[in-house]
Amino acid sequence: MGKVHVSSHPLVAHKVTLLRDVNTEPKRFRELVDEITSLLLYEATLDFPLREIEVQTPLATTRGYDLQWRIGFVPILRAGLGMVPAALRLMPFAEVWHLGIYREHDTLRPVEYYNKLPQDMKIDVALVLDPMLATGGSAVAAVDVLKLRNLSAVRFVGLIAAPEGIEALTRAHPDIEIYVAAVDSHLNDQAYIVPGLGDAGDRQFGTG
Ligand code: URA
Repeated sequence: MGKVHVSSHPLVAHKVTLLRDVNTEPKRFRELVDEITSLLLYEATLDFPLREIEVQTPLATTRGYDLQWRIGFVPILRAGLGMVPAALRLMPFAEVWHLGIYREHDTLRPVEYYNKLPQDMKIDVALVLDPMLATGGSAVAAVDVLKLRNLSAVRFVGLIAAPEGIEALTRAHPDIEIYVAAVDSHLNDQAYIVPGLGDAGDRQFGTG
């Protein structure tokens, strides 16, 4: 059974507060997304398995470690893009599989419009990156696509979640682990998270 991990890190709480602030400009907003993503990825990778290797220092041979799993990031366009630089800085060897999913205006249902998942499965774990877990529709659709490729180790990393999104994602995929910085009160009638931070894409890219 997967688990919902809500960060209790003081730096995360502090930075999420700045992120929420309506007066935070896109440049600072992007920096905060980047910084919080690094902290959340630290938590989301804490139990990644290691294999022992030998490493030669200038003085001696000693025991070292290599990551056992090959890692893929699956940013959901467009807001997930802002989480990629931090992810690649920490794990530069990872693959990035872009997935474009939008919410249909009337029905709010997820529609896949871009899929850059390779034919060849060369990863062992996928980290789905999307700042906002709102209705959960996009996250569920993304995990559906990954599981169709027989990938079972999937983790969701987001900044803010609504209870509705957590409920939808855990109901559809009870096995996946969810890592978020905060869980908010509810969704409004336009499926925005309240209090939230507004539109994470618009706020990153200055299009609001
Ligand atoms: N997507 C966003 O960017 N913000 C929300 O509040 C919900 C979905």
